[in-house]
Amino acid sequence: IQTALIDPFGRRIDYLRISVTDRCDFRCTYCMDEDVTFLSKSHILSLEEIVVVAKTFIAMGTKRIRITGGEPLVRKNILWAIEQIANTSGLEELTITTNGSQLHNMAQDLLNVGVSRINISLDTLQADRFFALTRKDKFQQVINGIEKAAELPFKRLKINSVMLKNHNDDELYDLANFALERNMDISFIEEMPLGIISDHSRAATYLSSDDVIETLSQHFSLTPSSITTSGPTRYYQVAGYDHRIGVISPHSHNFCDTCNRVRLTAEGRLLLCLGNEHSKDLKPYIRDILPSTPPLEDAIIEALALKPQKHHFNLEEAPQILRFMSATGG
Ligand code: GTP
Ligand code: 5AD
Ligand code: SF4
Repeated sequence: IQTALIDPFGRRIDYLRISVTDRCDFRCTYCMDEDVTFLSKSHILSLEEIVVVAKTFIAMGTKRIRITGGEPLVRKNILWAIEQIANTSGLEELTITTNGSQLHNMAQDLLNVGVSRINISLDTLQADRFFALTRKDKFQQVINGIEKAAELPFKRLKINSVMLKNHNDDELYDLANFALERNMDISFIEEMPLGIISDHSRAATYLSSDDVIETLSQHFSLTPSSITTSGPTRYYQVAGYDHRIGVISPHSHNFCDTCNRVRLTAEGRLLLCLGNEHSKDLKPYIRDILPSTPPLEDAIIEALALKPQKHHFNLEEAPQILRFMSATGG
């Protein structure tokens, strides 16, 4: 087994995002339509299969794994899988991205099974707006979950806020303040055109990260930070606080040069780039294996050769990528 996965552009791929389910208890307007249909159970990998893929990637040099969804914490027995993966030697960090709806009663368990960092989506601090954005009335439950996680010794917590002009951009300061006061980082995200949604025009609600930083600079003293999590976020140090404000700018500042990641969908497809369709189905190498089936490692190496150089998002035309964000966990 080779110890490092390098893509055709010389990028070291040592970070895997695993979507453990496409299901979600929210229906965020920028992510999916209200009447979305989810995959049937027979099409998705079992937790045992997910663990096999994760361990194979770790043996091939993967250092960090992020568990995503849909909403990963609605998958039954997910803590079991997380624990199996977190305890695999060679892995440096197991993290999770969640909408926060289950954190009020799962935060302690997540810490116990080895999750070191949690990214929590929160786009507004106003209950009525939360309902409008997520189509679910769970604002207080999410806040309670965030408060619960903040009491526990996680290595780091981060809030993710997708910013939509004229929907929540008047809350930039409030959201940043909410995170910083609770010793959390926060990332403001430019919405990506994944899947066709009917709620709003993504071109009309586009808010650039430069506008975000300009507005926040009126409230905070911000200095670009050299610290990264090797992800797409560009961080700013905030004077007077230990935590940081970040921006994720798929439109205005392409970050593909330093891409270090691939994604496993709940169906077992390895997706090489969020903004492209290049992928390879790993399920035949995990399920119903025949004596003639090549090993999973070979399939992963073959897949990596398909990784494209960069994403091209264009808000002026219809989405080129029809899959919703919930299919890949972001
Ligand atoms: P860490 O850096 O590990 O803390 O996490 P992250 O910010 O990369 O991940 P998170 O799950 O919190 O995702 C935040 C946002 O970044 C989501 O909107 C993701 O879709 C987006 N994102 C993460 N990785 C990529 C990527 O490779 N390409 C693009 N275009 N967006 C990404
Ligand atoms: N564009 C940008 N971010 C999105 N997310 C979901 N859909 C989109 C989109 N179309 C965010 C969620 C969550 C993270 C995984 O991705 O709000 O924070
Ligand atoms: Fe669910 Fe996250 Fe999509 Fe919202 S953005 S509907 S919480 S998967």
